[in-house]
Amino acid sequence: MRIVFLGAPGVGKGTQADRVAAHFKLAKISTGDLLREAVRNQTDLGREAKRYMDQGQLVPDAVVIGLVRDKLVEPGSANGFVLDGFPRTVAQAEELGTALQATKRPLQRVVNFQVPRADVVRRLSGRRSCPKCQATFHVEFAPSKKGNACDRCGETLVQRSDDKPEAIETRLKVYGEQTAPLIQYYASKRLLSELDASGPVDEVFEALFGVLAPYSAI
Ligand code: AP5
Repeated sequence: MRIVFLGAPGVGKGTQADRVAAHFKLAKISTGDLLREAVRNQTDLGREAKRYMDQGQLVPDAVVIGLVRDKLVEPGSANGFVLDGFPRTVAQAEELGTALQATKRPLQRVVNFQVPRADVVRRLSGRRSCPKCQATFHVEFAPSKKGNACDRCGETLVQRSDDKPEAIETRLKVYGEQTAPLIQYYASKRLLSELDASGPVDEVFEALFGVLAPYSAI
């Protein structure tokens, strides 16, 4: 299965990508996760990316395209992949199309997650992450059983620097200007499925399963 999760920041793409990848045994390729890893490791790429990420701006296309190209050819992607947060511009989508065409493994579905703006802001501002094991929580919808410490490893949870109100506003604006055009782009290629992602996590997963199941045997 070769799929893309599209949608505004905070609609739940990462949460569902984890579940879908585990259920269908796919590689989860999240450009946000890859970039945050580079930032943590203080690589040159990470240092460059951090300047954009902290402000809620997109990292230059050439940087993220290189990261994804490397992941697509890793053995872990042989059984298929779910792309979370990529592509985010038409230029990225075209590069992805070219890379997949070269391997004769085209995309099968692009799922557009839809959540009202007020809910997205609530999801983002309440998100907390573990800086050690990268687990994600939400103060209201998915709280850690250990309060402000991580359920899995006990580390103190933190708020992502781009989940502060100013950066959230910028990310939503950037999404509208640079990423939302991909909805029409993939609709015109007859690859798009719309998903109401406003309900609880289990409900969204069930709806998503209905969209993806037909592709599981391919
Ligand atoms: P990235 O990490 O991709 O951020 P994003 O797309 O803004 O997505 P988020 O991780 O914020 O949200 P999500 O939809 O995954 O929601 P989640 O499941 O976490 O990118 C970060 C930055 O990296 C970008 O701003 C950019 O700078 C750079 N970047 C990344 N990719 C790039 C690219 N391709 N090109 C250029 N730059 C790029 O859920 C959010 C919260 O809601 C969590 O707390 C969760 O617990 C909760 N939640 C999830 N589902 C539900 C539900 N159903 N009900 C209630 N709460 C829920």
